Amino acid sequence: MQVLSRLKGKSLVEPEDFSLDEMDGLFELSENIERNDKYLRESCRGKLLAALFFEPSTRTRLSFEAAMLRLGGSCLGFAEPGSSSASKGESLADTIRMAASYADAIVMRNPKEGAALLASRYSSIPVINAGDGGHHHPTQTLTDLLTIKRLLGKIGNLTVGFCGDLKFGRTVHSLAKALARYENIKLIFISPAELTLPEYIKNNFKKQNAQFDERENLEKSMPELDVLYMTRVQKERFFNEDDYIRLKDTYVLDSDKMASGREKLVVLHPLPRVNEISVEVDSDRRAAYFIQAKYGMYVRMALLASILGVIC
Ligand code: NCD
Repeated sequence: MQVLSRLKGKSLVEPEDFSLDEMDGLFELSENIERNDKYLRESCRGKLLAALFFEPSTRTRLSFEAAMLRLGGSCLGFAEPGSSSASKGESLADTIRMAASYADAIVMRNPKEGAALLASRYSSIPVINAGDGGHHHPTQTLTDLLTIKRLLGKIGNLTVGFCGDLKFGRTVHSLAKALARYENIKLIFISPAELTLPEYIKNNFKKQNAQFDERENLEKSMPELDVLYMTRVQKERFFNEDDYIRLKDTYVLDSDKMASGREKLVVLHPLPRVNEISVEVDSDRRAAYFIQAKYGMYVRMALLASILGVIC
């Protein structure tokens, strides 16, 4: 885990900001923390995390706060922009300069694509991107990869299906980009024609020589998959409510569809779920989305301890 000393003081804006070795180090550290809940406890005593959430969040914000508190550190911040000076017209650059003068690390979610990159340029402390519009969400990717590793024992040699809103789903963009860096990964993208992956993500796969395929039918793809990553249609990113209503229930994963999935299939979802996974699937042993959310806390503990430099 020596490799994690390289992360001290680093920001995480996009999924490729960390090397595969560094991510492996984070997964190993997460597993140690999960096994022994005293591990690293109190290591961040006296450190402050500023959590700046300009968009709604349940898991990401709470798991970051839980992670920091479990490490013995403290949190400050806001859960909605209305309670910050952004509502008075303050620029993001100025808000970030202030947070950087009070805290030791910043985690930020913002509706604008590129906001985290901008923040990292104005900040004197590490900035963690907790979602920038429909662009990226790299700590959800750490969560997703750790879950795959824990449940399947590996990240390479897998066929991974993504289903739902692939156009606006930032977790899809980040995870697909990250998976394409591993050996022998086949990516299958299942969406209606209006919600396919953005071209800039596909162009990246072409550069990486990644194997990928785009389809509309979930049922027919089920038997091929090692991992199925379901996503919600991102209502807040639509310009037109009629389009959202027309597309929102395009895919519903239910017991009938699960019946054609492999025995060792892992079903992931970044959550929140709306209608795209029916509740009857929750009791299927292949449904892993709630444990996935818990792994998110461990990997965020590993991430915070690394960037705050308390493990070297
Ligand atoms: C995701 C997000 O915010 O992009 N949620 C999360 O962080 N776990 C997915 C979503 O909102 O649909």
